[in-house]
Amino acid sequence: MKKINIGFVGAGTVGMGAIKILETKKKDFNSMGIDFEVHKVCVKDKSKERAIPAGCELVTDWKNIVEDPNIDVVVEVMGGTGIATEVVMSALKNNKAVVTANKALIADNFAELLETLARPEAPFFGFEAAVGGGIPMISTFQIQMRADLVTEVSGILNGTTNYMLSKMSAEGMSYEAVLKEAQDLGFAESDPTADVGGYDARSKTVILAQLAYGVLLDENKVFRQGIDRVETIDFEYAQLMGKTIKLLGVSQQTKPGEVTAFVSPMAVPNDKGVGQIHGATNVVSIKSQFQQETLLVGEGAGSLPTGTSIVSDLVRMAKADQSSAFAQPKEQRFTADFE
Ligand code: HSE
Repeated sequence: MKKINIGFVGAGTVGMGAIKILETKKKDFNSMGIDFEVHKVCVKDKSKERAIPAGCELVTDWKNIVEDPNIDVVVEVMGGTGIATEVVMSALKNNKAVVTANKALIADNFAELLETLARPEAPFFGFEAAVGGGIPMISTFQIQMRADLVTEVSGILNGTTNYMLSKMSAEGMSYEAVLKEAQDLGFAESDPTADVGGYDARSKTVILAQLAYGVLLDENKVFRQGIDRVETIDFEYAQLMGKTIKLLGVSQQTKPGEVTAFVSPMAVPNDKGVGQIHGATNVVSIKSQFQQETLLVGEGAGSLPTGTSIVSDLVRMAKADQSSAFAQPKEQRFTADFE
């Protein structure tokens, strides 16, 4: 049996979802020859009650995990781009495998991550949970789409705003009331600006563009408009045209190495395609040369869906999956930044 000691940095919605799945599926993993043990969990406040496995040590200093020689993989689920970046970069430098749900961290430190992971001896880096919650989106690009030529990636990449827009559209709810509901359900980022401002969708758009085309977009140059200016009356006007409003993240490769990208609320037909995807559900449409169009739809946020993606990365790590995390960087021209 291969023993894998896991150190969690963060034990919020996603972390606790992953821990629950590891416990629930323990026997299945054992039958695959893998014995996952949640060895340590780093939290801010040790006195808070939480359902951590027996024998697991609670710590408050992340270095206690990253520098522990007994820990094989660091799961970063604290969020944010401050300490979380130190956690991830120092774990990788210590040659520890890393699994993270942190899209903002990846998008903000992309060049350094690509360089660190390009080393032949680089450890496993899993980020399935960073885009599309529980949808197997990252691995679709890392594995299936490597046999194809992707020309366009577009879709609903933020569960919180889709939940909000769906409720505003169907029930005429106010922006403030519906934001509060999404936060209570655990979809929203700790700072909701990342969701409603379109920053979260933009980080995800940039990550998918790297995987799809091998280009690294400067996220600050990708046009971004959030939903914070969308009002109930906008849905009434959209309805008159048989449309509804969705926040879309779009990237297109116009020629090899030339990519355009943006994040914006768009009026879309309300009786087909993305217009039919409601709640915290995410959808991505991948247009490619050989496969034409692939649609991936599922739960884009939440404890167990996102927890599933964390655990699927842990399984890949345990099975010594050698597929490279990111696409081979290609020369890039950013044709339209909408500035
Ligand atoms: N806040 C994010 C969302 C979480 O609502 O989609 C999942 O990335």
